Amino acid sequence: MVSNWEDFYAKNPRPADLEQSESLLKDFIRRHDDRKVVLVTSGGTTVPLEHNTVRFVDNFSAGTRGSVSAEYFLDHGYAVIFLHRLKTLEPFSRHFAGHSFLNMLDLKTENGKPSVIVSPEYTEQISQVLCKYKEILKQGKLLQLNFTTLAEYLWLLRSTCKALAPLKSRAILYLAAAVSDFYIPSNEMSVHKISSSGPPTIALHLVPKILEPLVSLWVPEAFVVSFKLETDENLLISKARDALNKYKHYLVVANMLHTRKEHVVIVSRDDNYPISLSKSQIAAGEEIEQQIVADLVKKHDAFIGSAGKVT
Ligand code: PMT
Repeated sequence: MVSNWEDFYAKNPRPADLEQSESLLKDFIRRHDDRKVVLVTSGGTTVPLEHNTVRFVDNFSAGTRGSVSAEYFLDHGYAVIFLHRLKTLEPFSRHFAGHSFLNMLDLKTENGKPSVIVSPEYTEQISQVLCKYKEILKQGKLLQLNFTTLAEYLWLLRSTCKALAPLKSRAILYLAAAVSDFYIPSNEMSVHKISSSGPPTIALHLVPKILEPLVSLWVPEAFVVSFKLETDENLLISKARDALNKYKHYLVVANMLHTRKEHVVIVSRDDNYPISLSKSQIAAGEEIEQQIVADLVKKHDAFIGSAGKVT
């Protein structure tokens, strides 16, 4: 019998550029097969309503968690595959997103000719980020691949898992992307822009939980960390624990929509504990991902030491 996830892949064609991404992945893993490698997924997936897509269902994720975490994993010496939604935040460039970038610059006019300079108060901050970025580029330790739709994400995720599998316990999967739970199958989607002559009836189907084949078949020996997002505090921990019991991966980072930047709960088989930023840490610009990543890196080292056994 064909499982739900196999059915999804059978009915949603491979992205045209998947082969190119697979060759980048193969090359990246070959270059880093002696170190720890993390896959960070980031941003939300779109669910198109039409094949010639004018409209789509989307979600709130800005890619902050993923892009910030990717930088901290690099700090800990990991090679990072950053699988992100196009036009969401990316490591390093995130520091210059939006109009804050323009505030970092000044104009200087000499002999009637304007030139652009960095405002003195930002010089240190920009040079620190730039130095790190250039070093990471030189070392080739960051591979960025992007997706927009749910189907593109799921195809790329599967290919990345295949590439990571030989690393066994040295691979972390840090699944921070906000993946849609609902979609319209390709064969039920309107080809052209849905007419607005009357209210449309749109039937969404459930997306198969991809954690299931990922943990049991694609990367059974890797250190898999999923995320759980809720808006009802009463459900958060029980849902995170249900996911662990069902998919049998290593741990869940549980977070609430409105407090996700200052509070998460790390949920493992045996216990759960919070990681929080105090008011003063938030005011000082500290990022909760620094603590999350440091915690996971310690656990990952222990996991490698115990040859990948989930205790
Ligand atoms: O990007 P930001 O704005 O910084 O926000 C960060 C975040 C809130 C998006 C992030 O911290 C987070 O919680 N990401 C996971 C959100 C989510 O999809 O939660 P979920 O409860 O719907 O899914 C739980 C897990 O199941 C996820 O790790 C997901 O990878 C996985 N999943 C989801 C759908 C699906 N069809 N198959 C899956 O395996």
